[in-house]
Amino acid sequence: MPSIGIFDSGYGGLTIFKAIKAAMPQYNYIYLGDNARAPYGNLSYQTVYEYTWQCVRWLLDQGCELVILACNTASAKALRSIQQRNLTGPYAAKRVLGVIRPTAEVIGNYSQSKHIAILGTNGTVQSGSYLIEIEHFYPELNVYQHACPLWVPLIENNDLYSEESINIIKKDVLEVLRQDEQIDTLLLACTHYPLIKDIIQQFVPKHVNIVGQDMLVTDSLKDYLLRHPEIANKIAQQGQILFYTTGDSKDFEAHTAMFFGKDIDALHVAL
Ligand code: DGL
Repeated sequence: MPSIGIFDSGYGGLTIFKAIKAAMPQYNYIYLGDNARAPYGNLSYQTVYEYTWQCVRWLLDQGCELVILACNTASAKALRSIQQRNLTGPYAAKRVLGVIRPTAEVIGNYSQSKHIAILGTNGTVQSGSYLIEIEHFYPELNVYQHACPLWVPLIENNDLYSEESINIIKKDVLEVLRQDEQIDTLLLACTHYPLIKDIIQQFVPKHVNIVGQDMLVTDSLKDYLLRHPEIANKIAQQGQILFYTTGDSKDFEAHTAMFFGKDIDALHVAL
């Protein structure tokens, strides 16, 4: 069935997918998490590209007309190569979109001081992708970055409220804010991080906005489909959702409520 594909290295993309599905429940979707090989945060460009393209190709082969890389690391390290190298031949009419550009397009509107900071994985931060994209739309913005490599494992292990975890999160938040006291916007540039927004909030002054990407990406996708009826009209509208993981399907199901807000049935796929 022609569907919209949603890809993430694991569970994090479910936070984005939850918002997409709520806004556009009519479409058919296929979610794929590459849990067997996650996290992607510390992997090289080549490896992230190879894993991401393997997963995206599988989604396209299942009939997806459009795939959203609901993962900052994959968007930073694989999206451009996939768009330039792989969308040819049988895939030429298919589209693959990421989460960085739709975020960069609007993030400047959240800041009054024009000083913002980005929290992400090592891969996302080191790629500099946000700096490049944001400069394009908001050249006047002062943009700081900070990598939080321990946050994804903490979230995936559901070990959030121990003293040690809170201290790790606190340390990162204070370090990023210390870079410039005018920072008034923190962008959670990793699809896992919205799950710890309440903890982050405790260490952030009240006037600082904490911005997640779920609604930004959803609004951008909605707009894209309106502007591209040739893609939107191909997608089946039966509201069918399939969840796949390259990892253990029972494990995936056990984690889903935390990220997606409800229980689901998942299938294993070997890639
Ligand atoms: N979902 C990824 C992201 O948004 C983080 C998880 C990972 O490192 O694989 O960057």
